[in-house]
Amino acid sequence: MNPQHTRQAETGQTDRPLIILGCGYTGRFILPLTAQRGTATWATSRNPAQQLTTMPLSQRLEFDLARPATWDHLPAGADLIWCFPASPLSAVQQWAGTQRPRFNRLVVLGSTSAYEVSDDSTDYPPPLIDEAAPIDRTKPRVQGEEYLRNELGAILLRVTGIYGPGRNPLDWITQGRVGPSKKYVNLIHGEDLAGICLAAIGKGTPSESYNVSDGTPYTWKEICETARQRWGVIPAAAQEDPAPGKRISNAKLRTELGYKLKHPDLYAALDLIASINPQS
Ligand SMILES: NC(=O)c1ccc[n+]([C@@H]2O[C@H](COP(=O)([O-])OP(=O)(O)OC[C@H]3O[C@@H](n4cnc5c(N)ncnc54)[C@H](OP(=O)(O)O)[C@@H]3O)[C@@H](O)[C@H]2O)c1
Repeated sequence: MNPQHTRQAETGQTDRPLIILGCGYTGRFILPLTAQRGTATWATSRNPAQQLTTMPLSQRLEFDLARPATWDHLPAGADLIWCFPASPLSAVQQWAGTQRPRFNRLVVLGSTSAYEVSDDSTDYPPPLIDEAAPIDRTKPRVQGEEYLRNELGAILLRVTGIYGPGRNPLDWITQGRVGPSKKYVNLIHGEDLAGICLAAIGKGTPSESYNVSDGTPYTWKEICETARQRWGVIPAAAQEDPAPGKRISNAKLRTELGYKLKHPDLYAALDLIASINPQS
């Protein structure tokens, strides 16, 4: 094996071009990593002239799942990272029918909201959920994700709550979107999600799904208490959310993709966000 191939096998990096399909919050974390990677990269938007202003013109593509006329804008032979809900199923199927031969590997960002949680469960704390747990196939995005996984060999990342600069859980507390309840929450920093997307492109097994979280389920009560002690953050919502929430296992991600988290500690990451941008 030549040295370049050895490095690719170790790092999961490839030299194929990459398209970030739907370059929003996560996509903007992927872009700087692709610059380090040194492969050709494009980003898509339904309105590139307004949404992709920071990118060179040559790297901007117009793409809208709802407008088949834009589908051929994607250069052939690239790997794709699909960063928006894969729905409705009819559009996903139509897209797959015409585009399947035109791309290489496909990573799809799903959500851990796919996992069914039975309402009558009294287990607390709730059991850890791994990739074998039942999913709710009535949800439109789950139907699209499962179609891409089963029919096109997509590598599916079931993502927990994404946070980072501009998406700060401390703001959710002060805005009353969450309060000091016993409900469990699972989070992943956008920078780590971006790194995991590239690890999945390089090392993920086609048609497999991987839960994506930092591996530490917290209760909102724990987060609120730490927020009060560490940053003087006072919750706006006092009411108890009776739902137990979910506890997501990231064991498969750790063992099979071998990604080393940059932000394994939520509170250290929140300190860092505050130090970079006190308004975030
Ligand atoms: N936020 C969370 O905590 C969370 C948790 C679990 C999973 N997820 C999932 O993870 C994925 C990435 O999340 P994110 O927060 O990075 O998403 P995001 O900021 O909304 O970025 C996705 C981008 O995709 C583009 N897009 C939307 N619909 C499209 C369509 N029909 N056709 C083509 N492009 C479309 C939009 O860009 P333009 O407007 O420029 O076209 C949008 O900004 C999403 O699927 C999200 O649902 C999010």
